[in-house]
Amino acid sequence: MRLGLIGFGNIGTALLGLIAEGAPLDHLTVLVRPGAADAARSRLDGELKGAARSHALVSDAAGLLADRPDLVVECAGHSAAEAHAPAVLRAGIDVVLVSTGALADPALEAALKAAAAEGGARLILPAGAVGAIDLLSALGAGGGLEVRYRGIKPPAAWAGTPAAEILDLASLAEPAIFFTGNAREAATAYPKNANVAATLALAGAGFEATRVELMADPSAPGNVHEYSVVSPIANYTIRIENKPSSGNAKTSATTIYSVLREIRNRLGPVAI
Ligand SMILES: NC(=O)c1ccc[n+]([C@@H]2O[C@H](COP(=O)([O-])OP(=O)(O)OC[C@H]3O[C@@H](n4cnc5c(N)ncnc54)[C@H](O)[C@@H]3O)[C@@H](O)[C@H]2O)c1
Repeated sequence: MRLGLIGFGNIGTALLGLIAEGAPLDHLTVLVRPGAADAARSRLDGELKGAARSHALVSDAAGLLADRPDLVVECAGHSAAEAHAPAVLRAGIDVVLVSTGALADPALEAALKAAAAEGGARLILPAGAVGAIDLLSALGAGGGLEVRYRGIKPPAAWAGTPAAEILDLASLAEPAIFFTGNAREAATAYPKNANVAATLALAGAGFEATRVELMADPSAPGNVHEYSVVSPIANYTIRIENKPSSGNAKTSATTIYSVLREIRNRLGPVAI
């Protein structure tokens, strides 16, 4: 496979590390910010050497497209999704959008869908940090969904977010809910922490109807995602205790494996 990567931070690096443990990609194209190329090159030529038979670094979508990727993974954030993903989709190349929270912006959601339709490509929304998205998405067809999500992370994982203005994160002794609202509000206010709320909304009841609580908990066993679904067809509750990823406490480790799954499902004879 020829893989394109938009963003080369925590997820991108860990993903390539996992790929390097298995079969190498035929070619890898990494889109990095201007100024980040040297550091990226040394990682690709060093510890990530085994990830691809050849690689290139580019700084815009035109460079990415010139390398003819079979699939592009966005793992950079809202602004990168907005800047680069539409051109990739218009060129007929599928995009795995890890920053699902970016779709809480209705204009960007419409632009990405239009670009995908124009290019005959697909915008693929991975399960990311959460699970049972297949079931939620399937139940959505039956209507009448009630979805309640609670995101629980250690206080440090909420640093640099509006939670830090509501709570004294450094001295928090008890669990504290600092946000209650819908998934659109959560994904907009906490773009690096509430992608799960967006993924659940997109799979199930929509941004407005998906209820969200965000909590800081000093005794959280990691990044915990729990949600319950009530529907005419089935009810379920799921709780996932994620380890934080080593390069970014805000990102749950399962996210990286979820993206790896999207790639593997396009390589082997069976997709699951
Ligand atoms: N779907 C999910 O469940 C889920 C879970 C965790 C994280 N995420 C999202 O994935 C994204 C990446 O997470 P991460 O932990 O790797 O973050 P990170 O901050 O470690 O890495 C992001 C990288 O993207 C780069 N970047 C930002 N804007 C760019 C641009 N315009 N062009 C090129 N590079 C750009 C940054 O310099 C950085 O290197 C975030 O948006 C995060 O919200 C989604």
